[in-house]
Amino acid sequence: MKPSIIVHGGAWDIPDALVDAHISGCRKASEYGYDLLSRGGTALDAVEAAIASMEDDPTFDAGVGSVLNQVGKVEMDAIIMDGSTLRSGAVAAVRNIKNPIHVARRLLDTTQFSMLAGEGAFDFAMKCGFAECNEEDLLVGRELDDYREFLKTGVLRTRRFFSGADTVGACAIDSEGHLACATSTGGTPRKMAGRVGDSPIIGSGAYADDTLGAASSTGWGEKIMAVVLAKTAIDMLAGNDDPRAASERAINILKTRVEGLGGLIIISKSGKVGYFHNTPRMAFAFAEGISGSSKTGISL
Ligand code: GLY
Repeated sequence: MKPSIIVHGGAWDIPDALVDAHISGCRKASEYGYDLLSRGGTALDAVEAAIASMEDDPTFDAGVGSVLNQVGKVEMDAIIMDGSTLRSGAVAAVRNIKNPIHVARRLLDTTQFSMLAGEGAFDFAMKCGFAECNEEDLLVGRELDDYREFLKTGVLRTRRFFSGADTVGACAIDSEGHLACATSTGGTPRKMAGRVGDSPIIGSGAYADDTLGAASSTGWGEKIMAVVLAKTAIDMLAGNDDPRAASERAINILKTRVEGLGGLIIISKSGKVGYFHNTPRMAFAFAEGISGSSKTGISL
């Protein structure tokens, strides 16, 4: 079958000044992933490559560019899931690693475990030969300014705390019809030390099942977990291969049940893509093999 990929670069009130950077970061990630898929690469490889590209891009709250928590540290979460086996690899509250998604993938590929947190995740990364980085290597001026302001005033100047997040996500289907998804984030600004959001939690931040579809979430983590957003959306594809409708219905549940804010991207088992959000904006890009269409933009 013809492969497809869709990525998101967060759903929140993305300021005009950051729109171009979000668009180009999403386009690059989608192109990386699609290029792999069109050369016969697997869906897992495609979503890992797409996420790593956005983790390396300081525009997004994932990898480089991650937000600081209440004690001035960067703690990151990431997950990758294989729709053919229903196995996943995830890291939570991991520090001093540039690409948490690579560590999550290694966990999936080389162990029987699904999630490692904190020091355990970092130690595993070191054992695998990933490079340790300094906190400064992950920090961008935008987040430092935000944090300094918070220290001075005790007030969350940031626009993002409860309005969504710059979490990044990707879903893909490969030429064999296998689905995969991945999500990565620095979490919410000024989160408590040790706080883990929805992103690395299977079913909340991401879910993939070859018999239905794959989804990645973004937004207010505590609310997303309450409705197990990604799995809720995927279940709506049963008997109704319409990812746009499934993402809209799931986001409506997020809104009506817990007053949550967020966004979803989905690929169905037939390779159709869909997305929906109830935040002011969501950054996305996709290439849909079945229709030959592709698009990058900020959804309003
Ligand atoms: N959705 C990202 C987070 O809440 O951590």
